[in-house]
Amino acid sequence: MAATGAALYLFVTVHLLGNLQVFLGPDAINHYAAALKSVPEILWGARLGLLACVGLHILTTVQLARINNKARPTAYAKKANSASTAASRTMYLSGPTIAAFIVYHLLHLTVGSAHPQFSETDVYSNMVFGFRVWWVSAAYIIAMALLCTHLRHGVQSMFQSLGFNHPKHSPRIQKFANAVGILYFAGFASMPLAALTGILPPFFERL
Ligand code: HEM
Repeated sequence: MAATGAALYLFVTVHLLGNLQVFLGPDAINHYAAALKSVPEILWGARLGLLACVGLHILTTVQLARINNKARPTAYAKKANSASTAASRTMYLSGPTIAAFIVYHLLHLTVGSAHPQFSETDVYSNMVFGFRVWWVSAAYIIAMALLCTHLRHGVQSMFQSLGFNHPKHSPRIQKFANAVGILYFAGFASMPLAALTGILPPFFERL
């Protein structure tokens, strides 16, 4: 789970940095997207790798849930939640919601069937016009908030799996995980917000 989580983390980081180029204007992001698609072998290799990681991440989640259930087959009479955080308790909710978001996101910005003004080559306008619909932006921002709580707990769990859970290091790891969650949320949410508020103007060619 930690290994596939780390690989997915890497993808999300690269994806965030790549997408933030939307603030550099249509040419920057459209050239970047074209470059990514220019070598189909690499593109499809990365897509299959990602798919395998998502599949294994879900599989190990199911295995972990089974182990947890076996360890305590009867539920607690009263749950105190003394050592857990809201992020950790909602992992089983945020995970499937993120999976549902990815399906919609692919139809919206990659396949285009959920985008009325989709263009194969103009990723900038796909984003700007797509996010000008308030409920689309709201859905993205909610999904990003869940993703970031998931990532935040994921970072903490990863350090724990690697054996770094120690009274000396844990507070620093927690601070780092919180900062990561906030930073990624700010980065992802900035794009729909900028399109909604007009900070990202529509590209003249598509008007
Ligand atoms: C505001 C947030 C996001 C924006 C603006 C965004 C933007 C985009 C765009 C424009 C594409 C299409 C690129 C192209 O066709 O050239 C894309 C594809 C994709 N995005 Fe996102 N994305 C966001 C968040 C996410 C998140 C959080 C995930 C994963 C958890 C994700 C996963 C993907 C995947 C898997 C693809 C398909 C890549 C491919 O195989 O072509 N995206 N995204």
